[in-house]
Amino acid sequence: MPYLWLKSFHLVFLVSWMAGLFYLVRLFVYHAEAAGDAEPRRGILRGQYTVMETRLYRLITTPAMVLTWATGLSMVALQPAYLEQGWLRAKLALVVLLTVYHLACARVIRGLAEDRDTRTGEWFRVMNEGPTLVLVLACLLVVFKEAIAFSTVGWAAAVTVALVWLGYKGYAVARRRAP
Ligand code: HEM
Repeated sequence: MPYLWLKSFHLVFLVSWMAGLFYLVRLFVYHAEAAGDAEPRRGILRGQYTVMETRLYRLITTPAMVLTWATGLSMVALQPAYLEQGWLRAKLALVVLLTVYHLACARVIRGLAEDRDTRTGEWFRVMNEGPTLVLVLACLLVVFKEAIAFSTVGWAAAVTVALVWLGYKGYAVARRRAP
């Protein structure tokens, strides 16, 4: 029974983690785009974005990441045989990448707050698609487990990247056409 409670809250915390990451990098987009505004609008907006990014990162996204790890590793402790299986190893490799991405966001918050990070809104829009790929692949691996071939996971990654790119390009065209 404890296992099902762990899995239920694992899903709650990973959804919160993913939502926090997507919203955080969306704030980076607006923060970067406000660099082109005139004062005092530029200073007011960028100051406000720093407050929102810092609170979102410290109060929601980081606790959700820690609790996703805690519930995930607790399930592994209850099912140690999973460690022998390729799907969990591949999933853990993806989640470590996602954790590095999460920690890199803290550096971006500081860089934007100190006007040191000069990357564009476009750059952060593309960056924001990274967790999408991890989410799709992690869910395929954990639901199918050993029933999915890694070649299929590879195809799923390629299709996800292609669809995200098409969506991104389509949105860029729509933005250019919008008044
Ligand atoms: C942070 C480290 C993580 C560990 C150690 C971990 C480990 C696990 C384990 C052992 C299960 C139970 C598998 C089962 O009994 O069916 C599970 C379920 C699940 N995990 Fe994770 N996980 C982690 C992070 C994540 C992340 C980041 C995602 C998505 C982005 C994710 C998505 C899922 C899903 C959707 C399930 C439910 C699968 C089902 O109901 O069959 N996990 N995870």
